[in-house]
Amino acid sequence: MILVTGATGNVGRCIVRRMTAAGHQVKALTRNPGAVFDGAEVVVGDLDEQRTLPGCLEGVNKAYVMGMGPRTAEQVATFVHAAAGLRHIVLMSSLSVELERGGVVARWHREAEGAVRKSGIPWTFLRPGVFMSNALQWAASIRAEGVVRSVTGDTPVAPVHPDDIAAVAVTALSSTGHEGRAYALTGPERTSPSAQTRLLGDLLERRLTFEAVPAEAGVRSMTAFGISAEEAEVSVHSAREDNLFGIPLTTIHDLTGLAPRTFRDWAAENLNAFR
Ligand SMILES: NC(=O)c1ccc[n+]([C@@H]2O[C@H](COP(=O)([O-])OP(=O)(O)OC[C@H]3O[C@@H](n4cnc5c(N)ncnc54)[C@H](OP(=O)(O)O)[C@@H]3O)[C@@H](O)[C@H]2O)c1
Repeated sequence: MILVTGATGNVGRCIVRRMTAAGHQVKALTRNPGAVFDGAEVVVGDLDEQRTLPGCLEGVNKAYVMGMGPRTAEQVATFVHAAAGLRHIVLMSSLSVELERGGVVARWHREAEGAVRKSGIPWTFLRPGVFMSNALQWAASIRAEGVVRSVTGDTPVAPVHPDDIAAVAVTALSSTGHEGRAYALTGPERTSPSAQTRLLGDLLERRLTFEAVPAEAGVRSMTAFGISAEEAEVSVHSAREDNLFGIPLTTIHDLTGLAPRTFRDWAAENLNAFR
């Protein structure tokens, strides 16, 4: 039995779908008792509430685990504490941990990886770059004003399809030889936010305007969330550097045999969100 946390999320929901389609028994963890998953058992749990986890973990031998935002490391530590005895954990981490100065997100994920290492449970770390689904943050302003405001400037990235990350997670959870491995995952093409904007405009048959939000505005919005000015500076500038995030890797194909999808593929699948 495999437990999928973040089961209603971009990656988790694809893992549930792929696992159940392959005939695995799956428990889908959510805080929402009304959530419905085809072929999976819904378990209601909250990674901020340790007492909710033992019931979710009954009969489970492997898990996909992810934490959210500033509570990432605490949530992952809470999970592994409750999950002692599991045979394998696949952890959602981030490519930022491989950057020398990855900022606050890198710190959250380094600490989460540390908690999993310390647990003694065999692990695989997924370290994806920018998710294609981040473009959904542009949906409201595209619908209302035909404008994309990019908080990461116009730095090129090699965005990755959430379902391609899910395919790697499923491979790691359902075959051997992935324990103790950390997989850097990016998509197949280098593209910039302004190029993504043009592509969305073409698909929507609408003229879209691209605006790069100044770095200072990004720093201000992070400090408003309680992140220190120093960490916010490093994070915002790291997100605007042309670094590892912009290098297409072959990991997804190497591990799954699947051709990773392009931003165009993702945009065509999700076009209704922008209409
Ligand atoms: N976006 C990127 O470019 C990027 C890049 C690298 C790594 N990452 C990492 O990927 C992860 C996000 O993955 P995603 O996009 O698939 O997630 P997502 O779509 O943002 O979904 C978040 C999920 O977390 C669940 N959740 C939130 N708080 C929870 C809590 N206290 N207890 C239990 N579940 C909780 C929500 O479930 P319910 O509401 O149903 O409970 C939801 O399913 C983060 O760890 C992020 O740092 C993201």
